[in-house]
Amino acid sequence: MNDLNNQYNKLAISFEILSASSSSNLVGKVVNSKLIGLESKKSLINRDKTHQFYSFPKYYDLAFNRDVDNDIQFFIKCFKEYSDIDVQKILEPACGTGIFLENFPEYGYKILGYDLSEEMVEYSIERLNKLGINQELASTIVGNMKDLEFKSDFDAAIICINSLGYLTQEDDIISHFKVMGKSIKEGGIYIIELSCKCEDLASEKKPDDTWQVKNDGIEIKMSWIIDRYDIRNRIRHINFQMNVNDNGKNLVLEE
Ligand SMILES: C[S@@+](CC[C@H](N)C(=O)[O-])C[C@H]1O[C@@H](n2cnc3c(N)ncnc32)[C@H](O)[C@@H]1O
Repeated sequence: MNDLNNQYNKLAISFEILSASSSSNLVGKVVNSKLIGLESKKSLINRDKTHQFYSFPKYYDLAFNRDVDNDIQFFIKCFKEYSDIDVQKILEPACGTGIFLENFPEYGYKILGYDLSEEMVEYSIERLNKLGINQELASTIVGNMKDLEFKSDFDAAIICINSLGYLTQEDDIISHFKVMGKSIKEGGIYIIELSCKCEDLASEKKPDDTWQVKNDGIEIKMSWIIDRYDIRNRIRHINFQMNVNDNGKNLVLEE
C-alpha cells in the first residue's frame, strides 16, 4: 500500500477509508446495513442548486481528464484488503462525467454512479453508450448524495476528488453517511478521496492551483484558489474559475 500511497502524496491527495457509521478517519466496515433489495428511492432526491461549473460537462471533462488506472488499482487493493465481502458491485456518488463508470467494468466490476447535475449524467450516459458499455455493467442516474438511499445492494462505494466537500452542513454529511450505510452491504467499504494539502490554516499563504488544457480548438484555463478558511465551521471556501475559449467563443465559469 505504501508505494501506492506515495504516488498520491505527490499529488497532495490522500485516500481515506471511513466507516459509514463513523466520521473518524479510520479503516472501517459498514455496519448495521440491511439487505433490503436493489431499488433506489428516487423520491428522496431533492435537487439543490446545480453548480454552473457542472452544467458544461464537455469542458469539465477536458479540464479534469486523467488516467484513472492507478486510482482503480488502489481501490481494488483496498477492496481486497479491507472488505469482508467479495466486491463486485460499486456505488459512486457524485460521479460527474463518468470517468470511473467507463473504466471500472474493464477490471470486472459493476458500477452505478449518480450525480446532482443532469447535464453530467446525460453526458456520462452518452459516453457509456458511445463505448458500447452495457447498462448492466455501468450506469448512472440523477441524485443528491445528501439523501439518496439505495436498498442495500452495493459491496463498496467510492467518492472521488473531494466531491464530498459539496456537503458543507454537518446534518447533510451525517445524512449522507446514514444513507450510504444503508446502501452498502454489511462488511463492505466506502472509500473517500479528500485533498489533504498540508495547509497552515493560520498562515496567509494559501496553496493555489492553476492549469491549462487544449484540445480540438478548445482551450481551457483553470484556477482553483483557496479564498478563506472558516475554521469555526470547518469549511474551506475555494474559488474555481474556468476560462473557456471554444473555437473563438469565450465563456467564464465560476463557483
Ligand atoms: C469535482 S466533481 C467530481 C466528478 C467525478 N467524481 C470525477 O472524479 O471526475 C464533483 C461532482 O459532484 C457533483 N455534486 C455536487 N453536489 C452534489 C450532491 N449534493 N449530490 C450529488 N452530486 C453532487 C457535481 O455535480 C460534480 O459532478
